Amino acid sequence: MLDWLKPAQAAELQFHLNRIQLLNPAEAAQDEDFWATIRKQYITSNNIINLNNGGLSPQPLPVQEAHINMYKYCNEAPSHYMWHILDKKREPLRQKLAELAGCTAEEIAFNRNTTEGLNTIIFGLNLKAGDEIALSKYDYPNMTNAWLQRQKRDGIKLNWVDLDLPEEDEETIVKKFEAAITPKTKIVHITHMLNWTGQILPARKIADMAHKYNCEVIVDGSHSFAHIEYKITELDCDYYATSLHKWLCAPFGTGFMFIKKEKIKNVWALLSAPIPDADNIGKFECIGTRSFPAEMAIDSAIDFQLMIGNQRKRERLQYLKNYWCNKIENLPGIKLYTSTMPEYACAIATFGIQGWKPLEIINKLFTDKKIHTTTAEHEEIKGVRVTPHVYTTLAELDQLVECITEMANTKPASNK
Ligand SMILES: Cc1ncc(COP(=O)(O)O)c(C=O)c1O
Repeated sequence: MLDWLKPAQAAELQFHLNRIQLLNPAEAAQDEDFWATIRKQYITSNNIINLNNGGLSPQPLPVQEAHINMYKYCNEAPSHYMWHILDKKREPLRQKLAELAGCTAEEIAFNRNTTEGLNTIIFGLNLKAGDEIALSKYDYPNMTNAWLQRQKRDGIKLNWVDLDLPEEDEETIVKKFEAAITPKTKIVHITHMLNWTGQILPARKIADMAHKYNCEVIVDGSHSFAHIEYKITELDCDYYATSLHKWLCAPFGTGFMFIKKEKIKNVWALLSAPIPDADNIGKFECIGTRSFPAEMAIDSAIDFQLMIGNQRKRERLQYLKNYWCNKIENLPGIKLYTSTMPEYACAIATFGIQGWKPLEIINKLFTDKKIHTTTAEHEEIKGVRVTPHVYTTLAELDQLVECITEMANTKPASNK
């Protein structure tokens, strides 16, 4: 534990970890000394304030170190160290990941990301012409495109759920999904946390409703995993996938898919499995050569996550989001597309300013303050998405608020 640090730094971090145990998560969320020591575990840029952690998370030092060390080690004799040595560590790692995720190791396949996991499921399901799918207009494009391909190739029908973001009533959301179900609906596709605005959908309630109609449920956990606290079994979904390079801070290009044990046989392997309709999750790992060092460094990312604590992390992210949102929400012309209620959003939030185009806002944030954000423009959303992470400081968010305040009180050059 803490062996990636020099003794004095390890002692400092241990001191704060001991101290933080005595606080409840809400108190811990506001303990700036603790979060300052967490920040030191990340290499942050001196030139950029990174508030687009919703795109990708950086890896903390222990994860980078584990990854780089294993990378060098494997390069000494790749086929021996990767296939004979590191390969033996995969099953213990699967077990550890399953414990974090809240499912059994037999239900998890390692892969590169959510796109790979959910596309494997979407293309692998036995669906025939006329079968229907309920999905939302705000699902991630890589998944809606996969469904659109099945519509084009196989003649399935897509029934789109519209949302009025931010949604702040769970029953309303469930009813909207229910309205998209017909006697022909086979699958309900739920994005647990929407990338456009950070909206959290009540996945368990939607799943319970969908199961009453004998529909199977797919959950896209890309943004919710290791961000908000839950176990996959608590969602009671049939299929699930996530990316570990997002909120778990594991190496880029790491993820996993989950399929309920009894459903594995119903999904065809996408690639080269000897028995493509086997009831063994291993059939989804016949994907050819990939980076074992990246995969194995997931282990350090799990340790880092547990060191911070799931609930403490969630509370901190919530606190950071509300810190800046509360300061800007009543400024002239501000539109918040994200709820400040903890049930409906956590770290991610999206805002717009009347008279300003999203691109003008992100350009000004970058030019004036070197704040990196991203536009979020889709359907009714015309905004800028801001995503702090555990290493973000309040001083950085103050810079954000200062710049947004200036914009809210002026007009962009294009509008003068
Ligand atoms: C909701 C959602 N699903 C899926 C993905 C795809 O993630 P990846 O590129 O890691 O496959 C993203 C990426 O941002 C996302 O926001």
